[in-house]
Amino acid sequence: MTEPKKSCQCHDYHRPDVDSTEAVWVDPSSYDYRQHGPPYMTASERDDIRKTASKLSPRLAAIVEDIDVTPLTTVLVVLLAANQVHYSHHWMTHGPSYYGDHLLFQRLFEESADVWDGVAERYLGLGGRREYLSPVDLTAGVAQVCRRVCTYYPNDPTPIQMAKCGLDMEYIVLSVLKTVYQTMEKSGALSGGTDDLLQAAMNKHEEFVYLLRQRVQQA
Ligand SMILES: [Fe+2]
Repeated sequence: MTEPKKSCQCHDYHRPDVDSTEAVWVDPSSYDYRQHGPPYMTASERDDIRKTASKLSPRLAAIVEDIDVTPLTTVLVVLLAANQVHYSHHWMTHGPSYYGDHLLFQRLFEESADVWDGVAERYLGLGGRREYLSPVDLTAGVAQVCRRVCTYYPNDPTPIQMAKCGLDMEYIVLSVLKTVYQTMEKSGALSGGTDDLLQAAMNKHEEFVYLLRQRVQQA
């Protein structure tokens, strides 16, 4: 086991139960991802996030029912919808928590870019149809998902409603990733590279759920 990464002077203690050899725990109230790097979850926190994602309420599960053109384009549309939600909230947030929220939402869309770019390129690499990635088709799917998720919140949400909406969106992402992973595995379409890609996507979006949960709990 390697020594925990010491990226700054501010970490309070090293969590013994964290399932990463580079884990550093920082008091959430002084957490700055630029200084402290990504957050690390305990095995039980990760478990809890996976269970919640797989027990999505019917209203969230229904969101993806009409967009399953192919498994990977469904993933792509939902990832792009999450990206748009976080992007909009990055611009729209306001009030005393403005700076922290602005950076939190920025982190979510910045770090998701590699994931959705990888999914789109993998889809094409596997012989997917280019026309399914046309701006018109993609934005139609993104609009559909955004509308269904955001309809539960006001058009001008409070910062905490933005975090809750982002959290709903991230649970949908995890649920879709899991469903697509299982579908491709069952049909024998899951190559080693696609397996890695989808697993990495799940890990990244579990981190996002963790961050948004922390924000929602501050309310
Ligand atoms: Fe910006």
